[in-house]
Amino acid sequence: GATKVPMSLFDKDRYINYQRIEDNLAVVRQRLNRPLALSEKILYGHLDNPHDADIRPGASYLKLRPDRVACQDATAQMALLQFMSAGLPTVAVPTTVHCDHLIEAQVGGPKDLARAKDINKEVYDFLATCTAKYGIGFWKPGSGIIHQIILENYAFPGGLMIGTDSHTPNAGGLGMIAVGVGGADAVDVIADLPWELKCPKRIGVKLTGQISGWTTPKDVILKVAGILTVKGGTGAIIEYFGEGVQSLSCTGMATICNMGAEIGATTSLFPYNSRMGDYLDATKRGDIRKYAESFQHNLRPDENVDYDQVIEINLSELEPHINGPYTPDLATPLSKFAQAVKDNNWPEKLSVGLIGSCTNSSYEDMSRAASIADEAAAHGLKAKSGFTITPGSEQIRATIERDGQMKSLEQIGGTVLANACGPCIGQWDRQDVPKGTANSIITSYNRNFTGRNDANTATHAFVASPDLVTAMVFGGSLTFNPMTDSLKGADGKEFKFSDPSGKELPPRGYDAGENTYAAPPEDRASVNVIVDPKSDRLQLLTAFKPWDGKDPKGLPVLIKAVGKCTTDHISAGGPWLKYRGHLENISQNCLIGAINEANGEANKVQNQMTGAWGGVPEVGAYYRDHGIGWVVIGDENYGEGSSREHAALEPRFLGGTAVITRSFARIHETNLKKQGMLPLNFKNPADYDRTPRTCSGSTEDLPLVHTFNQGQIEWHRAGSALNHMARVQVG
Ligand code: F3S
Repeated sequence: GATKVPMSLFDKDRYINYQRIEDNLAVVRQRLNRPLALSEKILYGHLDNPHDADIRPGASYLKLRPDRVACQDATAQMALLQFMSAGLPTVAVPTTVHCDHLIEAQVGGPKDLARAKDINKEVYDFLATCTAKYGIGFWKPGSGIIHQIILENYAFPGGLMIGTDSHTPNAGGLGMIAVGVGGADAVDVIADLPWELKCPKRIGVKLTGQISGWTTPKDVILKVAGILTVKGGTGAIIEYFGEGVQSLSCTGMATICNMGAEIGATTSLFPYNSRMGDYLDATKRGDIRKYAESFQHNLRPDENVDYDQVIEINLSELEPHINGPYTPDLATPLSKFAQAVKDNNWPEKLSVGLIGSCTNSSYEDMSRAASIADEAAAHGLKAKSGFTITPGSEQIRATIERDGQMKSLEQIGGTVLANACGPCIGQWDRQDVPKGTANSIITSYNRNFTGRNDANTATHAFVASPDLVTAMVFGGSLTFNPMTDSLKGADGKEFKFSDPSGKELPPRGYDAGENTYAAPPEDRASVNVIVDPKSDRLQLLTAFKPWDGKDPKGLPVLIKAVGKCTTDHISAGGPWLKYRGHLENISQNCLIGAINEANGEANKVQNQMTGAWGGVPEVGAYYRDHGIGWVVIGDENYGEGSSREHAALEPRFLGGTAVITRSFARIHETNLKKQGMLPLNFKNPADYDRTPRTCSGSTEDLPLVHTFNQGQIEWHRAGSALNHMARVQVG
């Protein structure tokens, strides 16, 4: 019979489906008749329909069936609220939710966690009960960071996963195609709709030589980021190959894939090798190792693959790098860094070094950092800069506590933070430097955009390996190079650091630590989803009404937006993110950034019924409450930017009927259709100029066109894509 290997220890009755990959590829190979890259094998192996899929890399769109979905707590809220509104009984594919983004670093792990549980109680209560109700695995606050937990428990070679977080590609370290998406995509997949992805191009990175000394996997991606820049990976999957791969640990490969997000890549990926097998063994998934090894022919690229671009890196010659400030693609080799600091007048003093995060908190990372700390401690030294450690998961925290690395890092002055995103996402109550003061920090995280860590635009954030970060806190200066410079020990004698060393995997196995996982209960019918009706952060959604069957007529123009109108103009971020689980509250930002052609101002439009001027959300709601639909007129590439679903939910919530533009950004156009709105285009783009800014009384016919396919028309009839899925599934 068919081989049955569970996808994870938590999904005992959901099996890895390598047979589908095999079957799909039999069809696709006949059609394409050329060697396939690894990413193609896995992607096409997950096609909804391999027979008539349009497969043109860089051009067509693939309809795919992912194996699983993962959501972090900030993005999960609206996704789950939408899913609930459809009335479906359970999610269609194995799904997990991870509480990691809302925990602020202040004094240290346990206290910070307790405070976060209090502040975010309503969000956590909602997520805990909603996941229980709909059959979703729930990782409580304190469990760790989504990508680390996925690698430890859920990622598997040849799998396809989507996650509502940009660093989802971390799972590529275990040979999985894992893509960061918006909430709307997650909703599709958990409601059993196929997931659409632009057919990616392929960038090959050939690794030769061997990694050693101070050079770490992090330096591979820091180097690649320098070569490709922040946009260089757009629309492509980055595939690593070559004999150098074998010298990287599985968790090191995950670090490389994680940071592929910094160059805009769809995802990054490694071929299956024994280092992945070792990690699967260590995380109690030896059966998956065996199964993957029996399937290796499809877990590596064909011979003679044609990549769109190939980069070659010799690991034996690769130097440690430091990237930044302010952008992850400004790569400087360590040997040139001290000079660069002087040339650019970057603040020389190192204020804080921060290691860990979803990017670099493996057992290997922590062991190597501890080896550096131990050597410094043996010379009587303590860290000169602030020093924090963020374990990526409870399992890592418990294991390094048991095995002593935590003690090594604490005794030289390090503070262990909660197993959470913390300072990586600005959840950092930083006290050592007043806001506005120029200063330097160095992290082993992935992103270093202005203000990301501490909301201080004058902070110069650099990114490097955890080894370098740890060594540099003893130098206390950005100009300290641990490979060449000596430090003075407490005894007055000079010493130089030895090469860092550390175990790849814990010799005594991982210690799982506290149980922070909640499986969905057997009896889900009796679970009540908790949403406090007084909450200003969460609000249950009511399903949108089906189309009434009448053609809309005489609709007022709410706003004719002039110039660029991105998803940030339509649904601003910043302080509004607090309301991302509360559609009514967040709708108060609907289109407030768009410039009204009538007056050249933002958020000031004329109410066509009363003649009064008011804010866009206010006037939209007025029309809605008087039973009047409305339209938005937009220019070119309307809705470009992020995939945030709020930009489509809000106009629908405020009673909008149609958005008419010269052209749409594709994702936003689809999102509007999913919510039951009508995205329409001027047949003649020049007609944009003929549309009224205000009511003129005169009439003119301007032909409009649409891009709805038959399935999408059904969404519209039902009121939304989710309503439609509910009709199909529940009857
Ligand atoms: Fe969290 Fe930062 Fe990773 S926000 S998911 S630790 S990139």
